[in-house]
Amino acid sequence: MSGHSYPHRRQRRLRTRPAVRDLVREHHLSAKDLIQPLFVKEQPGPDEPIPSMPGQFRHGVDSLVARATRAWEAGVPAVALFPRVRDEIKTEDGQAAWDPSGLVPRAVSALKTALPDLLVITDVALDPYSSLGQDGVVVDGDIHNDRTIEALVQQAVCQAEAGADVVAPSDMMDGRVGAIREALDDAGHTDTLILAYSAKYASAFYGPFRDALDSAPRGGTDKRTYQMDPGNGDEALHEVEMDLAEGADWVMVKPGMPYLDVLWRVRETFGRPTFVYQVSGEYAMFKAAAQQGWIDERVCVLEGLLGFKRAGANGVLTYYATDVAEWIG
Ligand code: PBG
Repeated sequence: MSGHSYPHRRQRRLRTRPAVRDLVREHHLSAKDLIQPLFVKEQPGPDEPIPSMPGQFRHGVDSLVARATRAWEAGVPAVALFPRVRDEIKTEDGQAAWDPSGLVPRAVSALKTALPDLLVITDVALDPYSSLGQDGVVVDGDIHNDRTIEALVQQAVCQAEAGADVVAPSDMMDGRVGAIREALDDAGHTDTLILAYSAKYASAFYGPFRDALDSAPRGGTDKRTYQMDPGNGDEALHEVEMDLAEGADWVMVKPGMPYLDVLWRVRETFGRPTFVYQVSGEYAMFKAAAQQGWIDERVCVLEGLLGFKRAGANGVLTYYATDVAEWIG
């Protein structure tokens, strides 16, 4: 065997040793890329475990502050709050969503008092407050777009008044970003950011989250009448374009791993701050396989999150945020 026909170009030289690999790596994951979603409940008592999301809990407000402190100290810059409110206050129009003494405003002000530099992101949608588990106002068996916007505007202003740094409409109504921007500005909240759940798909991967909030749809309509069809990619670009035109500061693709192509196209097309949500069902899959001993949890989770960075994400909402920040130090 003579050597003269062997290649001179050898990609494998770039992989020979850790130091070489470190120097040529194109994308990196850091705690600063991560946003920790957290669940909050009204009752102070002990944290309530969420069976389909091992390691995640519903926290009373004091415990929420402690949990957010752990995230912040690990280097995670932001948390996203999701409330589990009492069933008695859930109504068809979800009006508890803009009660200034409600759970979310109380949780936000407790967090901002304890951790002023931590970014607090609040979800703008009615599902936690809807007796039907819907993100909007149900009229004659349909989610009424414009009536829903009126509700969401009040909810967003209420959250900003409580001190939320970022409001995140996750409802998929048309025109809500512009209406929320206008209302925030009119109320003097010109620096409150809007993170739009722009390309939010009607996904079965939200199942464990709906267990956490007890917010599974119970009537009214099918979420497929407002969330996107999983078969569509181009449509995501239209959604993002509309939200940016209406004043969204950050846009999001959700879920994550099944929609990496959408994430990539959104970042490539618009070049604006782009986020992705690794949702509850994705978390549950990692956890279940890890509990069985079938995958190496840490290595797989880090690989998955790095994939989001490579696909163009500026930041990732993941239930693993604090764990990952602690793992990577
Ligand atoms: C609803 C909302 C959902 C999630 C975030 N906000 C569920 C839904 O649309 O039914 C899902 C998050 C997750 O699964 O982790 N406004």
